[in-house]
Amino acid sequence: MTTDYERLAAINKDHLWHPFTQMKDYNNSDPLIIERGEGIMLYDVQGRAYYDGFSSVWLNIHGHNVPELNQAITDQLGRVAHSTLLGMANVPAIELAEKLVGIAPKGLNKVFYSDSGATGVEIAIKMAFQYWHNRGVRGKTKFITMNQAYHGDTIGAVSVGAIPLYHDVFRPMLFPSHVIPYPYAYRHEGGEAEALEATLTALRNLLETRADEIAALIVEPMVQGAGGIIVMPPGCLSEMAALCRKHGVLLIADEVATGFGRTGAMFACDLEDVSPDLMVIGKGLTGGYLPVAATLATDEVYDAFYADYEEQKTFFHGHSFTGNPLGCAVALASLKLLGERSMVEGVNAKASFVEHKLAALKDRPHVGEIRQKGLMLGIELVRNKASREPYDWVERIGVRTSLRARELGMLTRPLGNVIVFIPPLASTEAELDAMAHILAESIRNVTEGGSVT
Ligand SMILES: Cc1ncc(COP(=O)(O)O)c(C=O)c1O
Repeated sequence: MTTDYERLAAINKDHLWHPFTQMKDYNNSDPLIIERGEGIMLYDVQGRAYYDGFSSVWLNIHGHNVPELNQAITDQLGRVAHSTLLGMANVPAIELAEKLVGIAPKGLNKVFYSDSGATGVEIAIKMAFQYWHNRGVRGKTKFITMNQAYHGDTIGAVSVGAIPLYHDVFRPMLFPSHVIPYPYAYRHEGGEAEALEATLTALRNLLETRADEIAALIVEPMVQGAGGIIVMPPGCLSEMAALCRKHGVLLIADEVATGFGRTGAMFACDLEDVSPDLMVIGKGLTGGYLPVAATLATDEVYDAFYADYEEQKTFFHGHSFTGNPLGCAVALASLKLLGERSMVEGVNAKASFVEHKLAALKDRPHVGEIRQKGLMLGIELVRNKASREPYDWVERIGVRTSLRARELGMLTRPLGNVIVFIPPLASTEAELDAMAHILAESIRNVTEGGSVT
């Protein structure tokens, strides 16, 4: 008799095509099939428990199956599940917009909803482009992005993406963007200052010579996520913002990964008191429950679209599920919990706890660097610590380490040779301790063949 697991695994193999997954490899492995979640644990159909060590791809805040969030959805479901925002409004979408404006960096007064980080980025790009057009400024049509940037997988978002493995194959169908270096500083004396200078010099040079053809700069503020959890040195973001302002180029902050407390402030921009012209949020907006994203804009951007209909300045963009009431209701409930439980305020103490717990890992022979901002960590594995020689990609050291972590009871997904640790903000110290232990054990098992007690 086939078990439920075998039945589901067979259908999964026959009919599902998974994102960012080489299906040939995947189909040769035993699939993990999640059935339920509770707190920061996920349980598979075979009854095994796992810590959600990457917040289900960086979005979970309060844990899974949270009564308050479930209730918000149930309550809204009893009213209406979906109604459009095209030319009409709904209650939770209005209330959420007010709350978002209340917590966003100052000046971001308008909220345009969508349903994923990528669509939020598309909207920001199109808004920035049309902003100049509507103002009668011609020629400001290009974008500046940063090396190894990731902003999602739709064509516009990929056009401002700069990760060769993901993006190069599509290059012929993309619009070209200017790429400046993200300030990547391997920990050595003076590294941070050099990296900061390289970024700012590149931006300054570009703006001094080409600002009249550039609509906006898009940046992952304070931490570059998919590029390998790269942390910006202090002062970089604020200086970039000042340069954009000086040269009349819009600043788009992509807070999809960093938003809602992840870096220790509500938004990473807050860490440097930066107010972008456009800000994209997603992932944690609903506590990681439902697909809602938003692009926030200043009055100045909004006003460039506000005109008599005949002037044809309307922003002709929208998605069927824009402002979905269920999603907005759970987002409101998530924001309420964030406030009531002082979750954002609690991040720095948890981050220090994790830093302390992982401190000894820095000395392991194959740990090149531990990068951290708040509860966003990347542990880079290297073949040779002294020379920083990387592991060859065919060795799939990150994948093997993550699989070992899974065997030991924690889920995560690597970025190449970087092990990602992005736990739900609700994780307790005991849970963080247990996850840190699994991280250390799996890294040591795979890179050294030993074990940490
Ligand atoms: C900075 C950033 N922007 C955009 C996205 C895309 O978001 P989504 O996967 O919801 O489309 C991501 C996803 O990881 C991200 O990290």
